[in-house]
Amino acid sequence: MPLETEATAEIRALVADLRPDDADMLEALHRVQHRYGYVSQEAMYVIADQLRVTPAHVYGVTTYYSDFRTTPPPEVTVAWCGGPACRLKNGAGIRDAMQAVLGIELGEDTADGRVGLVAGQCNGSCEQAPQVWVGERVVGRLTAARAVTLARALRDGADPASV
Ligand code: FES
Repeated sequence: MPLETEATAEIRALVADLRPDDADMLEALHRVQHRYGYVSQEAMYVIADQLRVTPAHVYGVTTYYSDFRTTPPPEVTVAWCGGPACRLKNGAGIRDAMQAVLGIELGEDTADGRVGLVAGQCNGSCEQAPQVWVGERVVGRLTAARAVTLARALRDGADPASV
C-alpha cells in the first residue's frame, strides 16, 4: 500500500462499511466513481485492502465494466445520440464531424483532457434530432456545419454553457 494521504483516508472512509464479497466490490467502485468521477490507482489499493483481495483483482473488475473509468473524466462530456430519429436526420454526419474536429473516436477524450465524446441513447426529445448533450444540456437540430462550430468551440476552451 502506497503512502497514506488525506485523500487515501477519505477513500477509506467511503468504503469502510463494505465487506469482502463481489457485490461489495461493485458497490465500492460505484461509490468511488460517483465521488471522484473515476477509480484511481490509489482507490484500487484502498478497496483491495478493505475487501481483502489483491489490487490486481480490483483493477481487473474495474476495467471489465465499461461503466468505470480509470482516468479522470474530461472537463466536458459530449454525448452523441445514436437513436433512430437522430440517425435518420444525419446523426452519423454529426458524429463524424465532431470526431474529425476533436481528433477522437466515440469513447475517447482529447489528449488535453478537455473534451470527451461518448455514445448516448435516445432520451425521448427526438423533436430536437439530430442532437448531442453537452454535459446535461441538449444541443439539438444540429447540422454538420453547426457540429463543427460546436466541437471547435469546446476544443478551444469555450464555456460549455455558452455553446
Ligand atoms: S433518437 Fe436522438 S433524441 Fe431520440
